[in-house]
Amino acid sequence: PIGTTFDIAVVPGDGIGPEVIAEARRVLQSVLDAASVAVTWTEYSLGAAHWVETGETLSEATLERLRGHDAILFGAVGADPQDTRIPSGLIERELLLKLRFSLDHSINLRPARTYPGTATPLAGDPEIDFVVVREGTEGPYVGNGGTIRRGTAHEIATEVSLNTAHGVRRVVADAFSRAAQRRGRLTLVHKHNVLTHAGDLWRRTVEEAAAEHPEVSWDYMHVDAATIHMVQDPARFDVIVTDNLFGDILTDLAAAVTGGIGLAASGSINVEGSAPSMFEPVHGSAPDIAGRQIADPTAAVLSGVLMLQHLGLAEPAARLEQAVHAQLAEWARDPEAARGLSTAQRGEALLARLG
Ligand code: NAI
Ligand code: MG
Repeated sequence: PIGTTFDIAVVPGDGIGPEVIAEARRVLQSVLDAASVAVTWTEYSLGAAHWVETGETLSEATLERLRGHDAILFGAVGADPQDTRIPSGLIERELLLKLRFSLDHSINLRPARTYPGTATPLAGDPEIDFVVVREGTEGPYVGNGGTIRRGTAHEIATEVSLNTAHGVRRVVADAFSRAAQRRGRLTLVHKHNVLTHAGDLWRRTVEEAAAEHPEVSWDYMHVDAATIHMVQDPARFDVIVTDNLFGDILTDLAAAVTGGIGLAASGSINVEGSAPSMFEPVHGSAPDIAGRQIADPTAAVLSGVLMLQHLGLAEPAARLEQAVHAQLAEWARDPEAARGLSTAQRGEALLARLG
């Protein structure tokens, strides 16, 4: 809205994170300026390098400051696997998972689509455009389990999947709204023939939401069948709604069939708006190419598009997304022009296109 200043937290992170986020910020600033939307950016130093320097993964004070922003634009965090100073899993647990749970990111949103000229590993390079709405705070990922008799022949390990009516309902409601704004098709993916208790809750919840959305048609697919369809006929999907574990696996498959990590964007959404949502490329800090200005900033830019959409800035979001499409199409027609372009030159190409 006019007169509002959007207040964005930026966490560039490690490795290529700062390189791709710099380009995302430049192009976002450009479309927001053109739309006369005011924005402030507040940078936070977090990640593996920050932990080495300061011992902080994510303090309560930093978390509270992050909470105050309208949204978080996140690059990538994580050390080089050769760097033995950082305990394995520390950054994932104490930074990434802590953010997701503390800010109640109940949905992990992963658009999966092909772009002009992107080669997919699928025969005939089909056009793909679907979105996975993955539950983000429940399922088997809540740490509800334990081990007894560890290390003996009688060891017992449990990992109980947690599904709450509230948690499932808010995710399903969001998925139906998205389907209504897209092609009006929703697919529930689960395994309710075997996981009967959780599957029953998910199915009833979808049936109830479907009654409120007659404009959306829906179907059900077992997760194993979904992996087949995603490879053989991915164009059939519009919105997929699924639990945390199935979503984790399906979103990686979706990124693979749509042609690459350099393009995959994501949003960790707080559906109630009680804390800021976070937008980030799916890729990590890519230590193998960090510092060389060769990372593709497109996934970070498209994560910025998701952020604008989430903030209700539909017009600048559409302009930026169209610019990305047009630029990728041009590079597809003239691959020589794209060869060897630096991260910054890719950002500049988008800036030039935006005028
Ligand atoms: P990665 O996504 O960083 O890299 C995998 C491969 O893809 C590498 O060969 C890399 O060069 C390439 N790649 C990734 N992004 C690219 C881009 N924008 N342009 C061109 N090539 C790109 O995954 P990896 O190597 O498994 O993890 C590296 C670090 O990142 C680890 O510390 C890991 O924990 C962390 N990580 C962090 C994530 C996050 O911040 N949410 C997500 C995934 C991994
Ligand atoms: Mg994953």
